[in-house]
Amino acid sequence: MEKDKLVKLIEEIKKKKNAVILAHYYQVAEIQDIADFVGDSLQLSQRAAETDADIIVFAGVHFMAETAKILSPSKVVLLPDLEAGCSLASSAPEKEFSDFVKQHPDHKVVTYINCSAAVKTWSDVIVTSSNAVKIVESFPKYQKLIFAPDKNLGAYINGLTGRNMLLWDGACEVHETIRTESILQLKLQNPDAKLIAHPECKQPVLILADFIGSTAAMLDFTAKDSSQKFIVATETGIIHQMQKLSPEKEFIVVPSDETCSCNDCPYMKLNTLEKLYLCLLNQTPEITLSDEIIEKARKPILRMLELSVR
Ligand code: 13P
Ligand code: SF4
Repeated sequence: MEKDKLVKLIEEIKKKKNAVILAHYYQVAEIQDIADFVGDSLQLSQRAAETDADIIVFAGVHFMAETAKILSPSKVVLLPDLEAGCSLASSAPEKEFSDFVKQHPDHKVVTYINCSAAVKTWSDVIVTSSNAVKIVESFPKYQKLIFAPDKNLGAYINGLTGRNMLLWDGACEVHETIRTESILQLKLQNPDAKLIAHPECKQPVLILADFIGSTAAMLDFTAKDSSQKFIVATETGIIHQMQKLSPEKEFIVVPSDETCSCNDCPYMKLNTLEKLYLCLLNQTPEITLSDEIIEKARKPILRMLELSVR
């Protein structure tokens, strides 16, 4: 079906069913453009918690849609493609994770939102890349902490806060492929450009960065900073909003290797306009979770939302 026709149909059906479309910055541009709200992981969970729509279509990945369901259990939560997973979430299967937690009973468990609902039930508090430092700092210095599942984000927070959190060995397969060699080459070619990086990148990349932050923080930085050129070390989807906010500025994506000129998250990019239309029309695939999981996973997420506004 043609794009314009699909967009029109989605608009109509969305209105008829009182649905809301929430999209992450890593979605393709045409999905971002049709969404009611585009944001980072924290902003999307806040929106999911407060919406009065009957249906939430989550244009993102599975753990994000699960979080929306946990926060709004009475709503129908749809994910255009159920295969839209996340390498970080898959790196922490519930059994291994719960065994690890049980082996460290004197540790509090700080878990990145990029994990399954089952893993959330074993956590004391959830964090995203935009509030992780603040939430870790809310624990007394003497408190032993586990940080999971992103070892890169965990190491970055350890460095910033002087903590020694025990790190789970997980990583984002997209950010892990961003190499310093490619960045140095781009810096040589563009000496006037600033490097901005997501904290899921490896430490050597972060050391080179002029600014480190969540997708929303990077977007805000590019809009406010006086530089006219940015080398962007994260997933490509964010460029769409950067370019929209600052049409006169130039954004250069760091190639993940010589054969690829982009860093596309294979899971985020599984969602298409057509799948979005079909899931809204047929109200499937739907995210379902047991009442027990919802009740247990809700507590650490609500704790995060509470600590984020303080
Ligand atoms: P943020 O939305 O918190 O920047 O996280 C990026 C990401 O990798 C989401 O999967
Ligand atoms: Fe997961 Fe990385 Fe994709 Fe985000 S970009 S959904 S962390 S694999």
